[in-house]
Amino acid sequence: FGDGPLRGVKAVVTAGPTREAIDPVRFITNRSSGKMGYAVAAALARLGASVTLVSGPTQLAAPAGVQRASVETAAEMLAASREAVAGAQLFVGAAAVADYRMDTVAEQKIKKSSDAMELRLVKNPDILATLRQENPKLFIVGFAAETEKLEEHARGKLERKQLDLIAANLVGNGKAFDRDDNQLSVYWKGGGQELAPAHKHDLARDLARLIADRYTATTA
Ligand code: PMT
Repeated sequence: FGDGPLRGVKAVVTAGPTREAIDPVRFITNRSSGKMGYAVAAALARLGASVTLVSGPTQLAAPAGVQRASVETAAEMLAASREAVAGAQLFVGAAAVADYRMDTVAEQKIKKSSDAMELRLVKNPDILATLRQENPKLFIVGFAAETEKLEEHARGKLERKQLDLIAANLVGNGKAFDRDDNQLSVYWKGGGQELAPAHKHDLARDLARLIADRYTATTA
C-alpha cells in the first residue's frame, strides 16, 4: 500500500479484450488494446490502492506495483475477478468482455466446405452484474462503449447493473479503442462530469481521482 487517498484500499481492474475460441486455431475478439484499463490500474496504484489487474490478451507490460492475472475468455475473466475481489473494496471494469461465446467449440479445425456457414453463439455472464449480486458493498465502476445516445445508454447500464459510477466513451469511427487518447463522460446517480479529450494516462489519472472522491464520499 502506498500513500494517498486510496491507501489501504484493495482494487481490482479488468482490461483488454476477451477471446472466445471457435475451433483450435480461430477465435472471436474485439479491438480493445488494454491501454485504458492498464492506465486506470496504474493511476489507482499511484493513489495508494493495492491493485490487481485482470487482463485479457494484450501487448502491454504490467504497470509497476500492480499484480496481474492473465486470462483469455469471459468465463476466465469472471472467475479471476471473483477470486480477486475477495477482501477488495473497489472494482473497475474497463475490459471489453465478449457478450457471446460459441455454443460449442469445435474440437478439430473447421474445414472449408459450403459457401455459407453459421456460428451459434450463447450469451456470456455479465461480470459486473454477477459481482454486484455477490458483493453488495463493493464500489463498482463500469465502462460503457457506445456508438450513439451516450448518456442514455450509459445511465441505463449504471442502473441495470447497479453500479456506483460509469465511465462512458463514444466508440466506432476510430474512437477510443486501440489508440492512445480518449474522452470520457462519467455518470453517477444524481451527477456527472465530463473528462475532456486527453492521453489515456492523463484521463486515467483524472478518472482515478474522481473514483477516489466518490468512493470516499459514499463510504464516509
Ligand atoms: O482497451 P483500449 O484499446 O484502451 O480501449 C478502451 C475501451 C474502449 C475498451 C474502454 O474505454 C471501454 O469502453 N471498456 C468497456 C468496453 C465494453 O465492453 O463496454 P460495454 O458497454 O459493452 O460494457 C459495459 C460494461 O459491462 C463494461 O464495464 C464491461 O466491462 C462490462 N461487461 C460487459 C460484458 C460482460 N459479459 N461482462 C461485463 O462485465
